[in-house]
Amino acid sequence: MNTQDLDQAARDILARNDKGSYTIPTEGLYPYQWNWDSAFAAMGFAQFNPDRAWTEIDTLFSGQWDNGMVPHILFHRPDPGYFPGPDVWSGVGPIPSSGISQPPIAATMAKLVFGKDPDMGAKRMSPLFDRFVAWHQWFMEWRLDNGAVCITHPWEAGRDNAPDWDIGMRAINPVGVGDYTRRDTAHVDGSMRPTKWDYDRYLWLVQRGARLKWDEAAMIQDAPFRVADPTMTFTLLRANRDLAALGRALGRDVTQIEGWITTLEAGADTLWNPTIESYDGRDVPTGEWANSISNASFLCWYAGLPAAAMKPRLKSVMAGLTYGVPSLDPNDPRFDAKRYWRGPVWGIMNMLIGLGMDEQGMAEGQELRRTTADLIAEHGFSEYFDPTDGSPAGGKSFTWTAAVWLGWASPNARQA
Ligand code: SER
Repeated sequence: MNTQDLDQAARDILARNDKGSYTIPTEGLYPYQWNWDSAFAAMGFAQFNPDRAWTEIDTLFSGQWDNGMVPHILFHRPDPGYFPGPDVWSGVGPIPSSGISQPPIAATMAKLVFGKDPDMGAKRMSPLFDRFVAWHQWFMEWRLDNGAVCITHPWEAGRDNAPDWDIGMRAINPVGVGDYTRRDTAHVDGSMRPTKWDYDRYLWLVQRGARLKWDEAAMIQDAPFRVADPTMTFTLLRANRDLAALGRALGRDVTQIEGWITTLEAGADTLWNPTIESYDGRDVPTGEWANSISNASFLCWYAGLPAAAMKPRLKSVMAGLTYGVPSLDPNDPRFDAKRYWRGPVWGIMNMLIGLGMDEQGMAEGQELRRTTADLIAEHGFSEYFDPTDGSPAGGKSFTWTAAVWLGWASPNARQA
């Protein structure tokens, strides 16, 4: 396919996954609205229809809880093809939802959407601004450990089965979780998905949250799982920079947001693991490091940190691979080329990493864009890819991969 055909194929995927006011990641495997998927969808739509992009963000915020949290899944319409559904989660927001959040990239994507049509952007962002502030404030209030942002469930980081959570997950004894039927492995081969050991613990954590009615004050007492995470810390740091820029454009007071940026910059330092010389996940109850160099470690540049010490890590992780950035260092014994967040390459992470590299003046940003474009052009709009040979993995016709093509990887995206 030539570039024009690929651009059209990407737009077709967005159209196919468009449910009117929100976009599903892909039919079957993920039939609802996911938080960070939707933010990428908005960025993709903005390339040809900014109005539809803003609608995507409006719909995401229609699920915001009274405490400011924006859920990771909004269950707009029942779908028996996904588990765990709204009955298991028992979310307490205005529409059926999960009870946890997801990496806050929406402000960053909103800023990109804003740039496509600033007049429309000012109109659409204005009523959303306070909602964004409330969401970011919720992170600052409930998720910090020494200024780094923690997750309370592996699904909150979006990197479900990353080794970063292994210590915390091992500490859980999923007693009483009961029988359940997974649906994900009916759509995708089990070798590309988390294991049953993982799922037992995912569900145990969901059941605990539902039992406590997702009351953050109650949940933080004896919290069984809490990991200070590079994904959350770097994305929130970046999102606050972009929210402050949007606030300034709208004439709002951004002093509070500037304070959050200072706090998170200090928090990012606490994720530096001197033994592996990389940003890393830190288990809060034990203080132990995950000793994991992941693609989230390389979001440091996207967060606006110069992080020169991560450049040699990039070299060692990419050495010998056809496609990067892998979700785990291939030299790590836990590396698994096709298993979700324990090895595969993700276009979305590449886009965020690549944007950060460009902003830090690193030539590797353009190189990563080019190889990601090759990966998608040769292997399709898959959810993720095997970094050793590029073979597609996970769901097909994937919204965020199409969006990343349109907004970043496509040679035409450069002219936008
Ligand atoms: N990523 C999870 C799943 O696979 C939920 O966010 O179902």
